[in-house]
Amino acid sequence: MVPKMLVLFLIVFHGSLTFASDPDPVFDFCLPSGTHSPCKNSSLAKVEDFVFSGIKFPGKFINGSGFSSIAVNSNVFPGLNTLGMSMVRADFDVGGVNVPHFHPRATEVAVVLEGRIYSGFVDTSNRIFAKVIEKGEVMVFPRGLVHFQLNVGETPATIIGSFDSQNPGLMKIPAAVFGSGIKEELLEKAFGLSPEELAKLKKRHASHSLG
Ligand SMILES: *[C@@H]1O[C@H](CO)[C@@H](O)[C@H](O)[C@H]1NC(C)=O
Ligand SMILES: *[C@@H]1O[C@H](CO)[C@@H](O)[C@H](O)[C@H]1NC(C)=O
Repeated sequence: MVPKMLVLFLIVFHGSLTFASDPDPVFDFCLPSGTHSPCKNSSLAKVEDFVFSGIKFPGKFINGSGFSSIAVNSNVFPGLNTLGMSMVRADFDVGGVNVPHFHPRATEVAVVLEGRIYSGFVDTSNRIFAKVIEKGEVMVFPRGLVHFQLNVGETPATIIGSFDSQNPGLMKIPAAVFGSGIKEELLEKAFGLSPEELAKLKKRHASHSLG
């Protein structure tokens, strides 16, 4: 016999858990309503709600990095809402780099559409798993682990990543460390940098923090 308080606790606690994670859908779909009810009346849904055209073409390269990415998450593609998935298109100029970063809420599977990309991740023991992958090959980046890519081919490259979250989140290590406003003394000590070296890194990564 389960005590009543425990049942109540489980109901309340489970409710708060599902609210903060990618839920199992209880409707066919749930277009955000923009009002107090979570989903728009489904009879108002149109096919356009389920089509996203924003990755037909590459994005603009971030200044200096030879890299662009377009996230296809529930913020820009409401049709994904509650479905627990999303995507990204990333384009690389020759030599372009996708700086070390991680997605706190999703595992990513990425397929190379064009080009040859040095691609890898680091696990929680600081072991590296990296190699050059090429057109048609797929690599998985386990949830929350730091990963990175560099176009080592002689032509531009394109990859498509897919995520098991409608909103995977993105933390770029250089911007998080040098572009977020952490106290300078701390960064100098943590990385063994002179004030001049730190100033250079802060300047460089402030402009990348919106990427
Ligand atoms: C949804 O929209 C349809 C068509 O406009 C309407 O008949 C129906 O009553 C609406 N349902 C709800 C729950 O508002
Ligand atoms: C990068 O941005 C700076 C100003 O922030 C600009 O002067 C420079 O031309 C840009 N370089 C490229 C390659 O777009």
